[in-house]
Amino acid sequence: MSNDTVYLNGEFLPLSEAKISVLDRGFIFGDGVYEVIPCYGRLPFRLTEHLTRLQHSLDAIKLTNPLSPAGWKKLFLQLVERCDAEDQSLYLQITRGTASRDHGFPANTPPTIFAMSNPLKAPAPTLLERGASAITLDDIRWRYCHIKAISLLPNVLLRQQALEASADEAILLRDGEATEGAASNLFIVKDGTLVTPPKDNRLLPGITRDLVVELAQAAHIPCL
Ligand SMILES: Cc1ncc(COP(=O)(O)O)c(C=O)c1O
Repeated sequence: MSNDTVYLNGEFLPLSEAKISVLDRGFIFGDGVYEVIPCYGRLPFRLTEHLTRLQHSLDAIKLTNPLSPAGWKKLFLQLVERCDAEDQSLYLQITRGTASRDHGFPANTPPTIFAMSNPLKAPAPTLLERGASAITLDDIRWRYCHIKAISLLPNVLLRQQALEASADEAILLRDGEATEGAASNLFIVKDGTLVTPPKDNRLLPGITRDLVVELAQAAHIPCL
């Protein structure tokens, strides 16, 4: 059992041996998509929903899904088995592969598939006690925020700006409307009603967001 086994293009291997080309389009263009799947008790949480979102992201960037849902499940379980923790965070990244640098899609190029699983970090007790703090910032991202794209530079800059202002998260504003956080969806409770921005191209359709809405509905809490 080792904690540092990762998956790369059909092989399970130690992290230190997992290498990709500097011409990988993920590195050169940020041309790829990703998923993060929490695993509780070694079982991927809402796997179907994560795989459906992955399919939508792949379709949106015109990349063929390299595996079937059963193939992904098998791969994920093999990876989870190789990590010591009961609760884990599975990371999957698929890029358009390695080709000479040219913006247009390369022909006949296999995608790069990388996955790893790490122990899931529990939220700090102080965060749970006092809640998260946030500042509002202009949403400088592109117009396809529904795609879980690996090109996260705006999100990185926005989160860093929040941290430097001693806040935990940035709440993003576009055309006067709040969209989401730099790496989280947004909810407010107003007069007993749970309010969250609608799912469209301005935000990532979070799996947690759907769960919160479902739980609210089950508890008869009005939700907009
Ligand atoms: C921009 C953004 N919005 C929302 C989320 C929450 O998504 P999920 O609940 O699927 O983790 C994330 C997660 O990383 C994110 O990066």
